[in-house]
Formats: sequence, structure tokens, C-alpha cells
Amino acid sequence: MYIGKYELNSIYNVDCVEGMKHLPDQSIDLVVTSPPYDDLRDYNGYTFDFKHVAQELFRVIKIGGIAVWVVGDKIKNGDRTLISFRHCLHFQELGFNVHDVMIYKKKNTPFMRSNAYTNCYEFMFVFAKGKPKTFNPLKTKTARSGAEKLVYNKKSDGINKKVMGLLNEEKTLTNIWEYAVGLGGSTNDKIAFQHTAIFPEKLAQDHILSWSNENDIVLDPMCGSGTTCKMARMNKRNYIGMEISAEYAQLATERVGLVEPQLF
Ligand SMILES: C[S@@+](CC[C@H](N)C(=O)[O-])C[C@H]1O[C@@H](n2cnc3c(N)ncnc32)[C@H](O)[C@@H]1O
Repeated sequence: MYIGKYELNSIYNVDCVEGMKHLPDQSIDLVVTSPPYDDLRDYNGYTFDFKHVAQELFRVIKIGGIAVWVVGDKIKNGDRTLISFRHCLHFQELGFNVHDVMIYKKKNTPFMRSNAYTNCYEFMFVFAKGKPKTFNPLKTKTARSGAEKLVYNKKSDGINKKVMGLLNEEKTLTNIWEYAVGLGGSTNDKIAFQHTAIFPEKLAQDHILSWSNENDIVLDPMCGSGTTCKMARMNKRNYIGMEISAEYAQLATERVGLVEPQLF
């Protein structure tokens, strides 16, 4: 099946600003992506036209669709660039709702500073085009479960009545998500580390499960090693990946190709 020019469940070697022009308006359910930010890493020397990427994203996402934008800051001469905030404010100005500002906390953090605390997180901005059409909350087990005497009623005499009640066995996650990074953390795919800036598979999966349903269309316009596409495929979502570097597009295609397609 094609969406505009692009066949679903494929990865394309293309500048996403150009590539997204060939996707129809309101054709994408979910975007999970991470841009190249600042000059933290050298992505084979490609430039990044943020404003046009953001504009195209707003156009191609369906009403009620979500864009998850994973981004951190560089520290230049002791000053945080706050590129993360600048991106966020721009998305809001474009018309997205800033549905949530989530934290991607890294369990193992390589960067140390001698005069500040070790930075251990990036932002995961969750932008919604209108009211989100899908939310499948991820749950975690509560510390205590089973039956317990619970406060039932506090009358004007101030005396608590207690009755046996069932405690909740699970609760919705908070918006700080913690992941191990590196080999065995982000992924077990050695091939993925030919890319210098991957995010964890579980991070991509957790957003895909939260904000989309089976058969939905997930786009990663800057797919790098193909993490989002791989996790979409493993979770029965359709995907389109775009990547400006031929080398990374090839890497992503190979990596995602190792996964048995769940849909067909
Ligand atoms: C932070 S990395 C993404 C990593 C990815 N999330 C993963 O887990 O492998 C950003 C990627 O955007 C790509 N990129 C930069 N500008 C682009 C553009 N205009 N169109 C498509 N891809 C672009 C870079 O080559 C790089 O691979």
C-alpha cells in the first residue's frame, strides 16, 4: 500500500523536508523521532532545516495524531543551548498542543562535568495536533496490592470508618521514563551502533504502544539506524522511515529487515 509516493513499511534515503512533501495532508498517525541537535554529533556533514521539518510534520500528521520529539541540549562555553526549548516553542507556535514534556532518563550516563551535576536526561516532547485520538496508558505494578482496611468515610465527628477494600494492582506510569543505553541497553543489535546517536528500542516501543494502535502509520522522518521503524514493525504498526544519509538509510533497512514482519 502506498501513502502518496511512499510504499508503507519501507525506508527511504531522502531529505525529509523534500520527502514529506510527497506525503498527503493528514496521513500519519504518529511520529517518533529525534533530530540532529546542535553540532553534538557529526551526521556525515548534513545540515538540518528545522523549521521546514516542523512545518511538514504539522501538515502530514492526522488530526488527533502525535509527534514525539526526543531532543537534548549541548553545553557551549558553560551555557546550555536550550535548543530543546526553542524547538518546543516553535512547535507550539505552529499549532501543536504541547501535550506533555516527558523525560528520557539514562541509567548509565557517559558525560561528566567538573563543575555541574552529571546530565542524565533528554526531553521527549509529546506534541498533539488537537486532542489526542489514542492513549493506551502503560502501567506498572503498585508497591502494595491485595486487600487492606481502607478509609471509607470521614463524617463530621472526624472519626474514620475503615472497611476492607481492594488496593489497585497497577497504576499508570509517570512521565519520566528510564532506560539503559549502549549495547544490551538501547538494543542488542550490534549493527545499530554503526550510528552514533540511537535512542533505546524500548523508548520507541513505549511511545508507539501509548499513542498508536495496530495498523496505524508511524513515521520517523530522521530514522537514523531505524529504531522507530523496527519497533513499529514488531508491534504491528505500519512505518515509513526517511534518512538523509545513504549509509544510515542502508543500515536501517538492513536492521529492520532482520525483524519478521508482524503484519503480512
Ligand atoms: C539523532 S539521529 C536519529 C537516530 C535514531 N532515532 C535511531 O535510534 O537510530 C538523527 C538522524 O537524522 C538524520 N538527518 C539529519 N537531517 C536530516 C534530514 N533533513 N532528513 C532526513 N534525515 C536527516 C541524520 O543523518 C541522523 O541519522
